Amino acid sequence: MSNQKPNLLTVEATKGLTVEEATAFFSKHLNPGQLHFLKLLGFHRVIVEKAEGMYYYSRDGRKILDFFGGFGSLSFGHNHPRILEVRKKFMSEKRHEIAMAFISQYAVGVAKNLASISPDGLDIVYICCSGSEAVEAALKLAEKAQGKKKSKIVYAENSFHGKTKGALSVTDSDFYQSSFQLLNNRIRIPFGNAEALENVLKTEPSIGVLILETIQGGAGIVVPPEEYFKKVRSLCDQHNVLWIADEVQCGLGRTGRFFAFEYENVVPDIITLAKSLGGGKCAMGAYIARSPIYLKAYGSPKNAMIHGPATFGAMGEACCTAIESLNILYDENLMENARKQGDYLVSRLEYLRKKHNKIIKEVRGRGLMVGIEFVDFSKTLPFGIKQMISVLDDKLKGSLCGFIGSLLLKDYDVLVAFTEYNRNVIRLEPPLIVTREQIDVLINSLDDLLKRGIVKIVKDYVKYFLSS
Ligand SMILES: Cc1ncc(COP(=O)(O)O)c(C=O)c1O
Repeated sequence: MSNQKPNLLTVEATKGLTVEEATAFFSKHLNPGQLHFLKLLGFHRVIVEKAEGMYYYSRDGRKILDFFGGFGSLSFGHNHPRILEVRKKFMSEKRHEIAMAFISQYAVGVAKNLASISPDGLDIVYICCSGSEAVEAALKLAEKAQGKKKSKIVYAENSFHGKTKGALSVTDSDFYQSSFQLLNNRIRIPFGNAEALENVLKTEPSIGVLILETIQGGAGIVVPPEEYFKKVRSLCDQHNVLWIADEVQCGLGRTGRFFAFEYENVVPDIITLAKSLGGGKCAMGAYIARSPIYLKAYGSPKNAMIHGPATFGAMGEACCTAIESLNILYDENLMENARKQGDYLVSRLEYLRKKHNKIIKEVRGRGLMVGIEFVDFSKTLPFGIKQMISVLDDKLKGSLCGFIGSLLLKDYDVLVAFTEYNRNVIRLEPPLIVTREQIDVLINSLDDLLKRGIVKIVKDYVKYFLSS
């Protein structure tokens, strides 16, 4: 190896890569297996030129309506002008990014704002770069505060908390957990079942930590029964257990309240956030904890740096982005919009469910965190159609979501998301700026597509797939 410059792409050359070049480099240098799925959906054919508000603009002139929303990380839409302005100003004034030797006023600003928004008593904030990192840090905080005698962690069936090792240990997926060595101090319970929690807490005094998504996202948008979290709170108090509310996906206003647990008027001990905290422009995660818990774990100078700042934990521009994003959420009444448009979206989807009741099984969710569960056709598709798709992929057999998602993009320029554990659920997590008219576009497109009937949908999909 010499120090001679190799054949490096420039930024402009990268921006101009063709579909063929981008696909080839993705396959060779990023993730060949993932390309397989992108190709199944036809998503690899879109090169995005720019993104603004609710839309992606492709190089070949398409304007794609985004109901995917980066799995909840684009609450302010793409490139919100106020966020761009803050970032431009940060750069033009050459403000500092990394302030490990000094107090970063920007990190302080994020912490102060999140504490002001959170319920009383949740005053201490840890800033990081992702949801997984926030979950890791929250689990460690709880474990440290509880001590060795209460080191067991309870988590829920069908949970998703991230893919780093600690977070993965409480992510209920054989697929993601694969053959990795994980934490062994953990116990799994059914989600939304207070009795099961009570039973396990009664029999296992060494349980010290409980982690739950307030609304399960990866499971296919699962809202627990009413009063569940009230019982969770009371059981945790009774058994001296710290409750971590993972609000990485459902938090930050998506359900119509800043935190989804607010609907039950309860307060957890530690809350995790990420995704839209970065304003759709940068990587940001955080936990917010009750001060006594934090002080017990890391309060003394001796312990302060045990899980102290990571190198990129609170970069200046990212912090300014988060501060502006939190202000926008209130200034533009986005939580109110999430509630209002969420209600409208669910009511229109209910209308579709009744109209296409042989195809849509259920519509559920809260605010702008909505799932459409389709009927499972794995056992009922006509033989000819089954044969047709058997050449494609195991994942697509009987699951309409792939066909519907693929055709919604191809024929209607509408982008929707899929679900980790339930292949029959399409997830809708649009930016919180979505309008009634844009919801109508989604509904009319889906209605028009479903009118084709299952056999034609599958045939159209297969034709499209084979044309690539
Ligand atoms: C509830 C929840 N927790 C944690 C995570 C992990 O976040 P990240 O992908 O930023 O690591 C996710 C990601 O989807 C999530 O939905």
